[in-house]
Amino acid sequence: MSEQNISENKKRVLSCIQPSGMLTLGNYLGALKNWIKMQDEFDCTFAVADLHAITVKQDPAKLKQQILSTYALLLALGLDPEKHTVFIQSHVPEHTALSWLLSCNTQFGEMSRMTQFKDKSAKHPENVNVGLFSYPVLMAADILLYKPDFVPVGADQKQHLEIARDIAVRFNNKYGDVFTIPEPYIPKTGARVMSLQDPSKKMSKSDENPNAWVAILDDRDTIIRKFKRAVTDSDSVVKMSEDKPGISNLITIYSAVTGKTVAEIEKEFEGKGYGEFKLAVGEAVADELAPIKERYEEIIKDKKTLEELYREGSLKAEKVARKTYFKAMKKVGFVL
Ligand code: TRP
Repeated sequence: MSEQNISENKKRVLSCIQPSGMLTLGNYLGALKNWIKMQDEFDCTFAVADLHAITVKQDPAKLKQQILSTYALLLALGLDPEKHTVFIQSHVPEHTALSWLLSCNTQFGEMSRMTQFKDKSAKHPENVNVGLFSYPVLMAADILLYKPDFVPVGADQKQHLEIARDIAVRFNNKYGDVFTIPEPYIPKTGARVMSLQDPSKKMSKSDENPNAWVAILDDRDTIIRKFKRAVTDSDSVVKMSEDKPGISNLITIYSAVTGKTVAEIEKEFEGKGYGEFKLAVGEAVADELAPIKERYEEIIKDKKTLEELYREGSLKAEKVARKTYFKAMKKVGFVL
């Protein structure tokens, strides 16, 4: 079989990430590390979902910088723009175009039930814009244009993936087969990383306590300091346990980074205190993130190569997106 045929037989995966200023260790261990791994098995399409970012207030100069830095970070992490497709969402106009067709096939009632919309509109009552409301339709377009078999998403995006599936099924029933119905992808490994200061909360860069989270691009000293300050639990035994959320979170992180099992870790730190363990976790995380930071600094400096890569990426993406979009247009009855 030629290499071409082999790659055609691969299942397809799509996912996107919003251009946030600071992607965290939580984003890395929970999602991005799996994206890297999936490249061996699947034909992957990954995008920086910049259009989604303006559903909340953004400063134009900062947004621009964050889109570029997020794209550069995806490359630094090891996404391969040659073998796969890595692009910037707004560079492929079919996303917004398809989202109109999908909007007219989505009910106001079903959008109103989205929990993220309810949460976000309650948090920012001064900016409950229509884009925030219809955000899941744009996300459905992101997905359906590329006919992926699988979409890796975290728990907070599961409801949006469900609605994308519903929209696709309904569209296909009404107009004929256009879209593939994507399945959620639940990775075999993948860690849910909690705040280092309050392990009942997910690690989030919007946490007002900067010691609660580690950025992928934090430097070594900062990473180690944050782990040293991580909250632990009352006794001093390194053991995974429901009533020890702090230490359990650190074990999860250490395991995700080193590949050691929980049992191996508990054995390694038997009879040793929390201080030693926290330092070991900090060092392991710093060792893992250091080469990423180094590659990132190289990539972000070379604006010309960076631009070539994202232009190439969007050309590749658009070839696929355009086909699906025109098929949908034709089925709906537009004159092409
Ligand atoms: N909404 C997702 C988030 O905020 C990002 C996203 C946009 C996405 N389009 C997508 C994720 C398509 C998966 C598939 O995290």
